[in-house]
Formats: sequence, C-alpha cells, structure tokens
Amino acid sequence: MTILVTGATGNVGRHIVNQLVKAGHHVRALTRNPSSAKLPEGVEVVYGDLTEPKTLASALNGVTGIHLITFNSDGYTPLQTGPEIVDLAQKTGVRRVTVLWNGEHGPVEKAVEASDLEWTFLQPVEFMINALQWGESIRSEGIVREPFGQSPSAIIHEADIASVAVAALIGDSHAGKTYTLTGPEVLTVFDKVRILGAEIGRDIQFFELTEDQARERMRVQGAPEDAIDFVLGWYANPPKSAYTVVPTVEQVTGRQARTFAQWVSEHVHHFI
Ligand SMILES: NC(=O)c1ccc[n+]([C@@H]2O[C@H](COP(=O)([O-])OP(=O)(O)OC[C@H]3O[C@@H](n4cnc5c(N)ncnc54)[C@H](OP(=O)(O)O)[C@@H]3O)[C@@H](O)[C@H]2O)c1
Repeated sequence: MTILVTGATGNVGRHIVNQLVKAGHHVRALTRNPSSAKLPEGVEVVYGDLTEPKTLASALNGVTGIHLITFNSDGYTPLQTGPEIVDLAQKTGVRRVTVLWNGEHGPVEKAVEASDLEWTFLQPVEFMINALQWGESIRSEGIVREPFGQSPSAIIHEADIASVAVAALIGDSHAGKTYTLTGPEVLTVFDKVRILGAEIGRDIQFFELTEDQARERMRVQGAPEDAIDFVLGWYANPPKSAYTVVPTVEQVTGRQARTFAQWVSEHVHHFI
C-alpha cells in the first residue's frame, strides 16, 4: 500500500513521512519543489501542486491513503480545488484520508465529507514550532518581545499531530472522527520563555509589547490589516478550545503528548 503525504516538506508533513517510513510503509511525498525537498531515503518524492489538480494524477496512482493539507501557500488561503482533488482520489482508488485543519471548514473538508472516503479530521491548536520566530532575538539579545504575556495555549508538538495522522492512516478505528489535538499542558507566553531559558541554559528576558506596538511590528513585516486583527484578537481573547488540554493524542497513539521542554531540547540549536 502506498500513502501519499501532501505538505510533506512542511512542519507536520515531515514528521508524518518520517514516522511512516520508520513503520515500514511505502511513502510518496508531494511537493512543488522535488529537488529541494530533502526527504529521507526510500521516500518517493513527486511533483504536484494542489491548486492544479491535473498535476496530481500520476502522484495518486496506486495510492490507498492520503494525508491532505487544506491550504495554499499564498497566505494560507483555503484550497478551492477540494472537489477536484477528492474526485480524482476516489477515481484512482484512494480509500482513506487524514485532513489537517486550516482554521475553517473549507472546500477540501466539505468535499471529503461528501465523499465515500474514510476520513479523519485533525484539528490541532497552536504548534510548538511557532516558537522558532523568537530564535533571532534570543540568539542575538536574549530577549523575547510579544504582547499578551499571560495568553494561555495548550501548544502541541508537530510530531504528535503526525503520530495521530499516522495512526488514522494505518489503523482501522478512526473513520468519521474529528480529533481536537493539544499538548499535555497549558502554557502562557511567560511560561514558554521560562522553559526555553531553562532548556538552553540562558536567562531570557521578556518584554511585553503593547497591542499598538505589536500591530506596528506586524505592519512593518507586511501583514495585512485583517490578519493583524485576527492574530491580535486571538491572543487577546483566545477561544477556550485553544487552552483546554484534551487527552486525544494519548488515546489515539497510546503515548503521552510531548512537552514543550522536549520540543525545545530537540531545537536548541535554533536558540543558541
Ligand atoms: N502554526 C500553527 O500554530 C497552526 C495551528 C493550527 C493549525 N495550523 C494549520 O496547519 C497547517 C500547516 O501550517 P504550517 O504553518 O505548519 O505550514 P507548513 O506545513 O510549513 O506549510 C508548507 C507545506 O505546504 C505545502 N504546500 C503549500 N501550498 C501547496 C500547494 N499549492 N501545493 C502543494 N503543496 C503545497 C508545501 O509544500 P512545498 O514543498 O510544495 O512547498 C509545504 O510542504 C495550516 O493549514 C495551518 O493553518 C497551524
């Protein structure tokens, strides 16, 4: 059986590819840039662009399971090609699909739900890897600058999202399920900075930005106003689901969800 991983070069997809390969599965990895994909030996790396479903025909050949992302890289806009992708997948014999949530019930999710595929939706909260945005200021100044230091989040390790995806792709009891996925603990921004400092052995200072300062910083970085409103509104007043720990990772994988301290220990080189 061949499993096609879309977003294979991304934060979750790389872990899915690695875990499937380790478990002995034949993996085909989709990317728009096969020459720079840097995926493990034994992975079949193929070209495909999800915004152009006709480019997926050969990638889907012989595939029984797919991990599907639901966004296009141009600002994480929902993929509009869901119906064509799902139609093609069904015609080529795909039976099972995991779908990574992009924050809304978009065209991919709707097409998957309306299909005969065995689907599992993955709805993770904030990824631990977002902490990489602090790498530069920690390395150069030992400082993190953010607004809303008390904003809570049940951040999740990307490898845990992948472990649930792998369980759903190769196991038999996950069809029709929507899994909310969190890490094992609720952490504020202060907590994350404290854990980072302890793991890298450096006293990191936290400067709390005002909302206006944070808005200005995002403007300078080129973020559109609606995205700025969304991000700041989220951190000012996160939905309860973003800071409520659920046991799904452990229930599905049989292993406790990875901690932020573990994530930092795996990524220390980005911060020193
Ligand atoms: N970051 C968070 O805290 C968070 C929280 C909850 C949910 N999410 C969601 O999780 C998803 C992953 O987010 P991320 O930031 O970690 O992104 P990411 O995985 O780094 O995204 C890049 C991946 O998407 C692929 N891709 C993008 N557009 C494509 C297209 N048109 N055709 C084929 N492949 C395409 C890229 O493949 P190439 O090799 O072709 O470039 C690459 O593998 C998003 O839907 C995001 O909204 C994120």
